[in-house]
Amino acid sequence: MISRANGRPISITGLGCHVPERVLTNDELAGIVETSDEWISSRTGIRERRIAADTEAMSDLSIPASRRALEMAGVAPADIDLVIVATVTPDMAFPATAALLADELGMPDAAAYDLSAGCTGFMYAIAQAYGMVAGGLADRALVVGGDVLSKILDWTDRSTLVLFGDGAGAVVLERVDRGGFLGFELGADGGGGEHLWLPGSGSRHFDDPDSFVKMNGREVFKFATRVLVTSAEKLLEQCGLTIDDVDVYVPHQANVRIIDHAVRKLGVREERVVVNVDRYGNTSSGSIPLALADAAADGRLKPGELVLMTGMGAGLTWGSALIEWTEEMV
Ligand SMILES: CC(C)(COP(=O)(O)OP(=O)(O)OC[C@H]1O[C@@H](n2cnc3c(N)ncnc32)[C@H](O)[C@@H]1OP(=O)(O)O)[C@@H](O)C(=O)NCCC(=O)NCCS
Repeated sequence: MISRANGRPISITGLGCHVPERVLTNDELAGIVETSDEWISSRTGIRERRIAADTEAMSDLSIPASRRALEMAGVAPADIDLVIVATVTPDMAFPATAALLADELGMPDAAAYDLSAGCTGFMYAIAQAYGMVAGGLADRALVVGGDVLSKILDWTDRSTLVLFGDGAGAVVLERVDRGGFLGFELGADGGGGEHLWLPGSGSRHFDDPDSFVKMNGREVFKFATRVLVTSAEKLLEQCGLTIDDVDVYVPHQANVRIIDHAVRKLGVREERVVVNVDRYGNTSSGSIPLALADAAADGRLKPGELVLMTGMGAGLTWGSALIEWTEEMV
């Protein structure tokens, strides 16, 4: 799916994030599985990640992130009429985490549902919220992206354990006078789904009773380096722009080598790239909103700046969005 955003101008007017307190370093992981800080940091750029407490679930990370986003947007919870939570680690299969969140925050008139598109979930969710607001079905949407992948990792499997962390981010989408979203490109290749999957987590029976994330790292690496480039290039072309027009590049934070590859191929200037994978690891659907929040905290998101975001992950899925930033991030 690819299109210019040809409806009314709609933008992100509030942004918040939340990560668990517990920091887990590479050295600590080396005490759990056979690995080392040297292996992890040289292969991935990750130095530490956040890990949720036993009692912390997806909604617990979503609530503070959402409160911050609403506060920044100056929007009362009761005025939100759409809540989408992009996650593969909801509190439970049902009720939706979005419904629990809407209840907790006080959004009695909101439609609320979860969306599953792996690490690309946040990109799918903002595209969908854009469509609902542009089409007039909703006025103000709250979109949360996040995951608590530590709960579904095999803590004896070094090939996946070292890559992921927990965290969530939230944004408010609403109509603005000018600027805002310029376009989206989203895609999926279910044929490659078995390279990053959670067999046994749904209605399909598997003989292996383990319900943990399984991954073919090399295949995912090849996929990721390809789609981060092609998705961004297609969208820029669709919008009549080039990479030189992009002021802030926010790629999915999976691995610094994947990001470096995309940056080189796309020709993005180094100082325009947002990287925080070193501190959070891959937080799945939380990755892009957490990176946006970091860029905002560093004063890098200013009105008028063109921001390119590209996510990719399980599905296999990918997605890009271009937005002309409209808000002062205070
Ligand atoms: C996982 C990944 C970092 C592995 O890096 P790599 O350079 O391709 O490493 P390889 O797969 O070649 O493995 C090299 C060796 O390291 C070992 N290894 C794997 N994980 C290890 C770890 N945490 N510590 C130490 N050794 C490890 C492997 O067993 C392998 O050993 P072998 O050669 O004896 O079989 C890389 O493939 C990757 O980043 N893939 C994408 C993953 C991803 O981003 N997934 C989420 C997408 S949303």
